[in-house]
Amino acid sequence: MAKSVRYQDCDIATMQAGTAPYGLIEKASLVIEGGQILWLGKACNLPERFHALPVTSLNGRLITPAFVDCHTHLIFGGNRALEFEMRLQGASYEEIARRGGGIISTVKATREATDEELLKSALTRLDALMDSGVSVVEVKSGYGLTIDQEIRMLRIARALEQHRPVSIVTTWLAAHAVPPEYKGREEAYIDEVVIAGLKLAHSQGLVDAVDGFCETIGFSTAQMTRIFKAAKSLGLPMKLHAEQLTDQKGAILAAEYQGLSADHLEYLDPNDVPEFAKSGSVAVLLPGAFYTLKETQLPPVKALRDNQVDMAIATDCNPGSSPLTSILTAMNMACTLFSFTPEEALTGVTRHAAKALGLSDTHGVIAVNRPANIAIWDVKHPSELSYWLGASPLHQLMSSRALT
Ligand code: NIG
Ligand code: FE
Repeated sequence: MAKSVRYQDCDIATMQAGTAPYGLIEKASLVIEGGQILWLGKACNLPERFHALPVTSLNGRLITPAFVDCHTHLIFGGNRALEFEMRLQGASYEEIARRGGGIISTVKATREATDEELLKSALTRLDALMDSGVSVVEVKSGYGLTIDQEIRMLRIARALEQHRPVSIVTTWLAAHAVPPEYKGREEAYIDEVVIAGLKLAHSQGLVDAVDGFCETIGFSTAQMTRIFKAAKSLGLPMKLHAEQLTDQKGAILAAEYQGLSADHLEYLDPNDVPEFAKSGSVAVLLPGAFYTLKETQLPPVKALRDNQVDMAIATDCNPGSSPLTSILTAMNMACTLFSFTPEEALTGVTRHAAKALGLSDTHGVIAVNRPANIAIWDVKHPSELSYWLGASPLHQLMSSRALT
């Protein structure tokens, strides 16, 4: 029989929708068997048959679902601290990109790095994310920009699962920037690398979703439409970097394709939100990029809220716009910068983040018959998870995923 254990002296923020705030159960018990949740509820209601199980007392700690970081660019070579200095002296993110810096400078460093170097630096960042309670990480390609290099990034992303007990979701982001060798031949890049590479990577089981950077310095909606059609014909779900720097109507495009999510959204027109809401796509907000780029245009949080759009929060961990490796800090920033409530922030890294990756059936809430992906915290109330800055109050992260 699979090993069973009973946790007691704890509160559980189940994050189940439509229940008490945070789905909170105070003075709770949780029974786990073989990596599955067998029972949870008030300790006083614990069924007789579980009374004899080995008990672990949590001394009043809080249990939440393990967090889901639904938007990262975790694998990259080098860093862009020098561009950080340039921006502090007044250069904008777009200016630096147009001068051949930005994403393209990371492409150069990534192409030059060995597999081992890419893996090692990604593991360092992954460890930091895990220390902030994350057990599922979405990882995008997008710094290779050739078929081989993009596939290499996704292979290394998948390999992370062999080194840490986390689940990795891979996203094909060859439409991140046009590499120098295709300058002026954007349509050829889309056919020869973005779409041809997608088909190959998909045939190798390396792609869970397809993304693009829909922006004046990225790809147009017409170009993204071509890529989305290819993704759709392969049966792959879509997401999109939309309205980060300008309003390109990318969120509407993502909605048209029933995308899992549209991400960033600072420049999303509040008037477009009702249309976006119909799709059921998640709005993934990335306060680390807003903060790092010293953006002043706020995403239309009130309109998203009023239209019942599910909002997620992610780190957007990347070397340019968001060198952030703590999802707890992203939650704090969502509250301070985007006026999220702490409950919205916690929902944003659990239930809604799982939805943004198509993982609603298995992740993001604590419920019976689900895998036991849980985080145990040295806090008394869930609002503290958005409140503390700096040291992580994580006590233990439990993932149902054993190392492969
Ligand atoms: O999500 N905007 C495009 N992609 C990343 C930035 C990538 C980079 O600057 O290297 C983002 O912000
Ligand atoms: Fe991003």
